[in-house]
Amino acid sequence: MIIKDSIVVIDSGVGGLNIFYSLKNQFPNENYIFVGDSKYFPYGTKDKNFLGNRLEEILTYFNEAKAIIIACNTATSVLPLTKPRKNVIGIIGLTAESACAKTKTGNIVCVATNLTIELEGYQKAISKLNKVCLPVKASEFVVIIENKPNLSKEEYDKQMREIVFEKLIEFKDKNVDTLICGCTHFGYLIEYFKEVLGDINYIISDDAVCENIHNYTSINEVNNPETYIYTTGDAKEFSDKMHSLGFKDSAEHIDL
Ligand code: DGL
Repeated sequence: MIIKDSIVVIDSGVGGLNIFYSLKNQFPNENYIFVGDSKYFPYGTKDKNFLGNRLEEILTYFNEAKAIIIACNTATSVLPLTKPRKNVIGIIGLTAESACAKTKTGNIVCVATNLTIELEGYQKAISKLNKVCLPVKASEFVVIIENKPNLSKEEYDKQMREIVFEKLIEFKDKNVDTLICGCTHFGYLIEYFKEVLGDINYIISDDAVCENIHNYTSINEVNNPETYIYTTGDAKEFSDKMHSLGFKDSAEHIDL
Protein backbone atom coordinates (compact mmCIF):
# COMPACT_ATOMS: atom_id res chain seq x y z
CA MET A 1 0.00 0.00 0.00
CA ILE A 2 1.48 3.33 -1.08
CA ILE A 3 -0.44 5.98 0.84
CA LYS A 4 1.29 8.95 -0.81
CA ASP A 5 -0.01 8.34 -4.33
CA SER A 6 -3.47 7.11 -3.39
CA ILE A 7 -6.97 8.44 -3.00
CA VAL A 8 -8.19 7.23 0.37
CA VAL A 9 -11.93 6.74 0.89
CA ILE A 10 -13.24 6.40 4.45
CA ASP A 11 -16.51 5.32 6.04
CA SER A 12 -17.65 3.54 9.21
CA GLY A 13 -18.75 0.56 7.11
CA VAL A 14 -20.05 -0.51 3.72
CA GLY A 15 -21.84 2.77 2.86
CA GLY A 16 -18.75 4.51 1.52
CA LEU A 17 -18.20 1.68 -0.97
CA ASN A 18 -20.78 3.40 -3.19
CA ILE A 19 -18.54 6.44 -3.55
CA PHE A 20 -15.39 4.30 -3.74
CA TYR A 21 -16.68 2.21 -6.68
CA SER A 22 -18.13 5.25 -8.47
CA LEU A 23 -14.70 6.91 -8.35
CA LYS A 24 -12.95 3.72 -9.38
CA ASN A 25 -15.28 3.21 -12.34
CA GLN A 26 -14.96 6.78 -13.50
CA PHE A 27 -11.21 7.14 -12.87
CA PRO A 28 -9.84 3.59 -13.16
CA ASN A 29 -6.15 4.50 -13.55
CA GLU A 30 -5.77 5.74 -10.01
CA ASN A 31 -4.56 4.09 -6.79
CA TYR A 32 -7.27 3.67 -4.17
CA ILE A 33 -7.45 2.68 -0.53
CA PHE A 34 -10.84 2.09 1.08
CA VAL A 35 -11.19 1.88 4.84
CA GLY A 36 -14.36 0.74 6.61
CA ASP A 37 -13.95 1.58 10.30
CA SER A 38 -16.01 -1.37 11.52
CA LYS A 39 -14.22 -1.30 14.87
CA TYR A 40 -16.17 1.85 15.71
CA PHE A 41 -19.34 1.20 13.70
CA PRO A 42 -21.92 2.70 13.94
CA TYR A 43 -20.76 6.31 13.85
CA GLY A 44 -24.23 7.86 13.80
CA THR A 45 -25.08 7.20 17.44
CA LYS A 46 -21.66 8.09 18.89
CA ASP A 47 -20.65 11.18 20.83
CA LYS A 48 -19.33 13.92 18.52
CA ASN A 49 -16.09 14.49 20.44
CA PHE A 50 -15.33 10.78 20.54
CA LEU A 51 -15.88 10.61 16.79
CA GLY A 52 -13.82 13.73 16.16
CA ASN A 53 -10.88 12.10 17.96
CA ARG A 54 -11.32 8.86 16.04
CA LEU A 55 -11.43 10.70 12.73
CA GLU A 56 -8.29 12.65 13.67
CA GLU A 57 -6.55 9.30 14.31
CA ILE A 58 -7.51 8.00 10.85
CA LEU A 59 -6.61 11.24 9.08
CA THR A 60 -3.22 11.29 10.80
CA TYR A 61 -2.55 7.72 9.63
CA PHE A 62 -3.32 8.66 6.02
CA ASN A 63 -1.88 12.19 6.24
CA GLU A 64 0.37 11.71 3.20
CA ALA A 65 -2.43 10.64 0.84
CA LYS A 66 -3.03 12.81 -2.21
CA ALA A 67 -6.69 13.04 -1.21
CA ILE A 68 -8.83 11.64 1.61
CA ILE A 69 -12.52 11.47 0.86
CA ILE A 70 -14.75 11.28 3.89
CA ALA A 71 -17.37 9.05 2.27
CA CYS A 72 -19.47 9.38 5.39
CA ASN A 73 -21.82 12.20 6.30
CA THR A 74 -21.51 11.60 10.02
CA ALA A 75 -17.72 11.84 9.90
CA THR A 76 -18.02 14.89 7.65
CA SER A 77 -20.19 16.46 10.37
CA VAL A 78 -17.33 16.18 12.89
CA LEU A 79 -14.61 17.24 10.45
CA PRO A 80 -14.46 20.73 12.05
CA LEU A 81 -13.24 18.98 15.23
CA THR A 82 -10.11 17.71 13.45
CA LYS A 83 -6.98 19.61 12.40
CA PRO A 84 -7.49 21.50 9.13
CA ARG A 85 -5.94 19.60 6.20
CA LYS A 86 -5.87 20.58 2.55
CA ASN A 87 -6.18 17.01 1.24
CA VAL A 88 -9.43 16.14 3.06
CA ILE A 89 -12.78 16.29 1.26
CA GLY A 90 -16.12 16.20 3.12
CA ILE A 91 -19.35 15.40 1.31
CA ILE A 92 -22.18 17.37 2.93
CA GLY A 93 -21.70 20.69 1.12
CA LEU A 94 -21.33 19.00 -2.28
CA THR A 95 -24.39 16.79 -1.77
CA ALA A 96 -26.56 19.64 -0.48
CA GLU A 97 -25.63 21.75 -3.52
CA SER A 98 -26.55 18.98 -5.89
CA ALA A 99 -29.97 18.55 -4.18
CA CYS A 100 -30.65 22.29 -4.23
CA ALA A 101 -29.85 22.40 -7.94
CA LYS A 102 -32.42 19.65 -8.62
CA THR A 103 -35.42 20.71 -6.51
CA LYS A 104 -38.24 22.69 -8.09
CA THR A 105 -40.54 22.86 -5.07
CA GLY A 106 -37.69 23.84 -2.72
CA ASN A 107 -38.68 21.18 -0.17
CA ILE A 108 -35.92 18.62 0.42
CA VAL A 109 -36.15 15.66 2.77
CA CYS A 110 -32.77 14.73 4.23
CA VAL A 111 -32.57 11.24 5.71
CA ALA A 112 -29.37 10.77 7.71
CA THR A 113 -27.91 9.34 10.90
CA ASN A 114 -28.95 10.79 14.24
CA LEU A 115 -25.65 12.62 14.72
CA THR A 116 -25.62 14.10 11.21
CA ILE A 117 -29.10 15.54 11.81
CA GLU A 118 -28.20 16.77 15.30
CA LEU A 119 -25.11 18.61 14.03
CA GLU A 120 -27.29 20.31 11.36
CA GLY A 121 -24.76 20.38 8.51
CA TYR A 122 -27.45 19.71 5.89
CA GLN A 123 -29.99 22.08 7.44
CA LYS A 124 -27.43 24.93 7.34
CA ALA A 125 -26.12 24.19 3.85
CA ILE A 126 -29.64 23.93 2.41
CA SER A 127 -31.05 27.05 4.07
CA LYS A 128 -27.99 29.00 2.84
CA LEU A 129 -29.17 28.11 -0.64
CA ASN A 130 -32.68 29.33 0.25
CA LYS A 131 -34.37 25.91 0.22
CA VAL A 132 -36.19 24.06 2.98
CA CYS A 133 -34.61 21.02 4.64
CA LEU A 134 -36.92 18.46 6.27
CA PRO A 135 -34.56 16.38 8.44
CA VAL A 136 -35.19 12.72 9.35
CA LYS A 137 -33.06 10.86 11.90
CA ALA A 138 -32.68 7.27 10.72
CA SER A 139 -29.69 5.52 12.30
CA GLU A 140 -31.89 2.40 12.48
CA PHE A 141 -31.46 1.84 8.73
CA VAL A 142 -27.68 1.65 9.03
CA VAL A 143 -27.77 -1.23 11.47
CA ILE A 144 -30.20 -3.25 9.33
CA ILE A 145 -28.03 -2.77 6.22
CA GLU A 146 -24.88 -3.96 7.98
CA ASN A 147 -26.83 -6.93 9.36
CA LYS A 148 -27.92 -8.01 5.88
CA PRO A 149 -25.80 -11.21 5.72
CA ASN A 150 -27.64 -12.50 8.82
CA LEU A 151 -31.15 -11.94 7.46
CA SER A 152 -33.16 -13.77 4.84
CA LYS A 153 -34.32 -11.61 1.92
CA GLU A 154 -37.88 -11.69 3.31
CA GLU A 155 -36.76 -10.58 6.78
CA TYR A 156 -34.56 -7.82 5.38
CA ASP A 157 -37.32 -6.53 3.09
CA LYS A 158 -39.91 -6.65 5.86
CA GLN A 159 -37.77 -4.78 8.40
CA MET A 160 -36.73 -2.19 5.85
CA ARG A 161 -40.21 -1.58 4.44
CA GLU A 162 -41.76 -1.15 7.90
CA ILE A 163 -39.25 1.38 9.07
CA VAL A 164 -38.97 3.28 5.78
CA PHE A 165 -42.75 3.66 5.77
CA GLU A 166 -42.79 4.85 9.37
CA LYS A 167 -40.06 7.46 8.72
CA LEU A 168 -41.22 8.81 5.35
CA ILE A 169 -45.00 8.58 5.09
CA GLU A 170 -45.51 12.03 6.66
CA PHE A 171 -43.77 13.62 3.65
CA LYS A 172 -45.98 12.04 1.03
CA ASP A 173 -48.23 15.04 0.43
CA LYS A 174 -45.85 17.78 1.53
CA ASN A 175 -44.78 19.07 -1.88
CA VAL A 176 -41.43 17.35 -1.53
CA ASP A 177 -39.66 16.59 -4.83
CA THR A 178 -36.18 15.69 -3.60
CA LEU A 179 -34.73 13.33 -0.99
CA ILE A 180 -31.08 13.37 0.06
CA CYS A 181 -29.56 10.05 1.05
CA GLY A 182 -27.67 11.89 3.79
CA CYS A 183 -25.91 8.75 4.90
CA THR A 184 -23.80 6.87 2.37
CA HIS A 185 -25.40 3.61 3.49
CA PHE A 186 -28.77 4.85 2.23
CA GLY A 187 -27.82 4.61 -1.44
CA TYR A 188 -28.83 0.94 -1.01
CA LEU A 189 -32.36 1.95 0.02
CA ILE A 190 -33.63 4.03 -2.89
CA GLU A 191 -35.99 1.29 -4.09
CA TYR A 192 -37.63 1.21 -0.64
CA PHE A 193 -37.82 5.02 -0.49
CA LYS A 194 -39.54 5.00 -3.91
CA GLU A 195 -42.25 2.68 -2.61
CA VAL A 196 -43.34 5.47 -0.23
CA LEU A 197 -42.45 8.73 -1.99
CA GLY A 198 -42.58 7.62 -5.63
CA ASP A 199 -40.60 9.03 -8.48
CA ILE A 200 -38.96 12.12 -6.93
CA ASN A 201 -35.25 13.08 -7.12
CA TYR A 202 -33.04 10.82 -4.99
CA ILE A 203 -29.67 12.42 -4.32
CA ILE A 204 -26.59 10.35 -3.47
CA SER A 205 -23.14 11.78 -2.84
CA ASP A 206 -21.38 9.64 -5.48
CA ASP A 207 -22.11 11.92 -8.43
CA ALA A 208 -21.28 15.11 -6.53
CA VAL A 209 -17.91 13.65 -5.46
CA CYS A 210 -17.01 12.39 -8.95
CA GLU A 211 -18.01 15.70 -10.58
CA ASN A 212 -16.01 17.79 -8.12
CA ILE A 213 -12.92 15.67 -7.43
CA HIS A 214 -10.85 17.66 -9.95
CA ASN A 215 -11.32 20.76 -7.80
CA TYR A 216 -9.48 19.06 -4.96
CA THR A 217 -6.82 16.85 -6.49
CA SER A 218 -5.28 15.81 -9.77
CA ILE A 219 -6.26 12.41 -11.15
CA ASN A 220 -3.37 10.04 -11.85
CA GLU A 221 -2.96 7.98 -14.99
CA VAL A 222 -1.08 5.12 -13.32
CA ASN A 223 -0.10 2.16 -15.51
CA ASN A 224 -0.70 -0.54 -12.93
CA PRO A 225 -3.15 1.01 -10.48
CA GLU A 226 -3.55 -0.65 -7.10
CA THR A 227 -6.64 -0.95 -4.93
CA TYR A 228 -6.77 -1.96 -1.29
CA ILE A 229 -9.95 -2.52 0.66
CA TYR A 230 -9.53 -2.56 4.42
CA THR A 231 -11.68 -2.91 7.48
CA THR A 232 -10.58 -2.11 11.02
CA GLY A 233 -12.83 -5.00 12.09
CA ASP A 234 -13.09 -8.63 11.04
CA ALA A 235 -12.12 -9.17 7.39
CA LYS A 236 -14.47 -12.10 6.77
CA GLU A 237 -17.45 -10.35 8.31
CA PHE A 238 -16.82 -7.23 6.26
CA SER A 239 -16.33 -9.25 3.08
CA ASP A 240 -19.63 -11.08 3.74
CA LYS A 241 -21.38 -7.72 4.01
CA MET A 242 -19.81 -6.60 0.74
CA HIS A 243 -20.94 -9.78 -1.00
CA SER A 244 -24.49 -9.46 0.41
CA LEU A 245 -24.67 -6.05 -1.29
CA GLY A 246 -23.49 -7.47 -4.60
CA PHE A 247 -19.79 -6.50 -4.55
CA LYS A 248 -17.30 -9.15 -5.66
CA ASP A 249 -14.14 -7.89 -3.91
CA SER A 250 -13.14 -8.85 -0.38
CA ALA A 251 -11.56 -6.86 2.44
CA GLU A 252 -8.40 -7.27 4.49
CA HIS A 253 -7.95 -6.27 8.11
CA ILE A 254 -5.94 -3.16 9.00
CA ASP A 255 -4.75 -2.36 12.53
CA LEU A 256 -5.77 1.20 13.01
N1 DGL B 1 -22.34 5.87 6.30
C1 DGL B 1 -22.23 6.85 7.33
C2 DGL B 1 -22.81 8.18 6.96
O1 DGL B 1 -22.81 8.52 5.79
C3 DGL B 1 -22.50 6.49 8.77
C4 DGL B 1 -23.20 5.28 9.19
C5 DGL B 1 -22.98 4.99 10.67
O2 DGL B 1 -21.93 4.41 10.97
O3 DGL B 1 -23.83 5.35 11.50
O4 DGL B 1 -23.22 8.94 7.80
